[in-house]
Amino acid sequence: MKNLQRTHQLDHTRDVVRVVQVTDSHLCRTSGGTLLGMDTDHSLQAVLDSIQREQPEVDLVLATGDLSNQGAVESYVRFQTYMEQLGAPAFWLTGNHDSHADMLKVAADSPLFCNEIRTATWQILMLDTQVPGAVEGELGADQLGLLEGALEHAAEQRLHSLVCLHHQPIAIGCKWLDQQMVADADSFFRVLDRYGGVKGVLWGHIHQQVDSERKGVALMASPSTCIQFAPGSESFRVDDQSPGYRWLDLHRNGTIETGVSRVVDVSFKVDLDSGGYL
Ligand SMILES: [Fe+2]
Repeated sequence: MKNLQRTHQLDHTRDVVRVVQVTDSHLCRTSGGTLLGMDTDHSLQAVLDSIQREQPEVDLVLATGDLSNQGAVESYVRFQTYMEQLGAPAFWLTGNHDSHADMLKVAADSPLFCNEIRTATWQILMLDTQVPGAVEGELGADQLGLLEGALEHAAEQRLHSLVCLHHQPIAIGCKWLDQQMVADADSFFRVLDRYGGVKGVLWGHIHQQVDSERKGVALMASPSTCIQFAPGSESFRVDDQSPGYRWLDLHRNGTIETGVSRVVDVSFKVDLDSGGYL
């Protein structure tokens, strides 16, 4: 999987590419399964309802990992069906809770998995940070090599780049989550620093919003479509904020406009006192 190299050309004519990021849905094997008391099918559908109300034109959907809670084929089949509601091509990343093998049983013959999505002026890179059997993330030589080659191409073609990961490449101030960040983040940023075209880095995993910046590059993390983790926590702690998603407008001049939207009209059940989950 880490060696897979595929590029998808997005047929797109408008000036702005409207991207929606949906992340960490943690769907269980059967519909109605719960994570810390929350029905993750119900919460995903509530987020999709918000997207459909708020985003009349979606050009592409980025699903940045932990689509399934236990990596079951049944959950990926349902996830794919849910995404069809948005009427836009979706692209998947693998998270630490996912199973490559079972995702491929659903996605092998589709463009769901690709390393690069291209428009006339943008390149969106999907890099795999999963380390099989581990919670922590790492890119490794393969993905770093893909990144370097893709950014070289982008420099030649004068494309702007958005780089997507599952795990976070920076410490976010949650001690327990910071232990899981991309192990070779230093190498990752060294590659980015060699190219001027990278405008943003986008990830999931941390179930909370981050909007930061490094050397002019936007650093963005987003709420899960199910449970939220409390910012600034030393150890595992669930937050009472609602599920949500992120939208991004990629402009031709390289500007990214972005925002996070959370579900406001639905109440969710969640066990706030939980000490963790597997
Ligand atoms: Fe997650």
